Amino acid sequence: MLPQLEELKINALRELEGIVDLKQLEAWRVRYLGKKSELTMILRGLAMLPLEEKKAVGAQANEVKVYLEDGLREKEEALREAQLAVSTKVEAIDITLPGYPFPTGHLHPITQTLHEICDIFVSMGFQVVEGPEVEWDYYNFEALNIPEEHPARDTMSTSWVDCKTAGGDRPMLLRTHTTSVSARVIETMTPPIRVIEPGRVYRYEASDATHSPMFYQIDGLAVDKGITMADLKGTLYEFARRFFGDERKVRFRCDYFPFVELGVEMAIECLVCSGKGCRLCGNTGWIEILGAGMTHPSVLQRGGIDPEVYTSFAFGIGIDRIPMLRYGINDIRLFYNSDLRFLRQF
Ligand code: DAH
Repeated sequence: MLPQLEELKINALRELEGIVDLKQLEAWRVRYLGKKSELTMILRGLAMLPLEEKKAVGAQANEVKVYLEDGLREKEEALREAQLAVSTKVEAIDITLPGYPFPTGHLHPITQTLHEICDIFVSMGFQVVEGPEVEWDYYNFEALNIPEEHPARDTMSTSWVDCKTAGGDRPMLLRTHTTSVSARVIETMTPPIRVIEPGRVYRYEASDATHSPMFYQIDGLAVDKGITMADLKGTLYEFARRFFGDERKVRFRCDYFPFVELGVEMAIECLVCSGKGCRLCGNTGWIEILGAGMTHPSVLQRGGIDPEVYTSFAFGIGIDRIPMLRYGINDIRLFYNSDLRFLRQF
């Protein structure tokens, strides 16, 4: 009986080795450990054996049983693991699975407005130029007919930079308007010139619903022979028509800016009440959107352009107010405090 058990064990283990799937394994289990298996029969027949033999065969048969059971468990684990590995491998290249959602952002409403306005002027032949945000007093004020004691400086609360040049004491500031870029353009470019100058500007002011210490402007400048007020009105009228719509009325009125002569302000019919008068337009029916004018001869002269030969118009648009009007936003600070619940709406 003992050699029979030994042979059984060897055969069973050899067969077990060659098994490649769970179905084969189940058949193996039935054959070697099942109710009708040789081993079960031997164990059942133990009672009939003489005592000595019973002990020896019993011990051996139980040992074989434990062996085969261990082998079965190990094999089953190995097969299940292999099956899992195969199925995850298949999944890894399953291109029909939906992808991970990838969060995409979008441009800030102010940036969108800047792009839209720049596109309109570019289509009319203007070129986009940029200048520094930390600027010399000269380009922000002096070159624009605003000398040190000029009262116009008071209208632009300025953040000065606490820094002097090695050679002298040329004061620096955070530019208060993008008109400073026009002063640089007049110095460096030769006519004919058609440029627009978008960018950030700074004022030394506390923020509230309508003020921010940093905001956006776009200045524009055209210099050529024979430029007149008609060019200014035509260009800005076309801009207003394209940006605010064909039917929107536009109004020009005289205004004062030291770097232009004559100076105007342009207003559009109120977007909310269409001219009837409401809270937004302070009951006037009009909303001012930009300042403009014919560039002052001494500004051209100072930058090296002969005002006897060339004339020029200029304009400056405050950007922040435009999306505020368009979308009915009543607090400028919403643009700058990065609350995504607000920004996601645009
Ligand atoms: N720089 C002016 C401001 O910030 C706006 C302005 C007015 C710009 C008239 C111009 C202009 O170029 O011609 O208030």
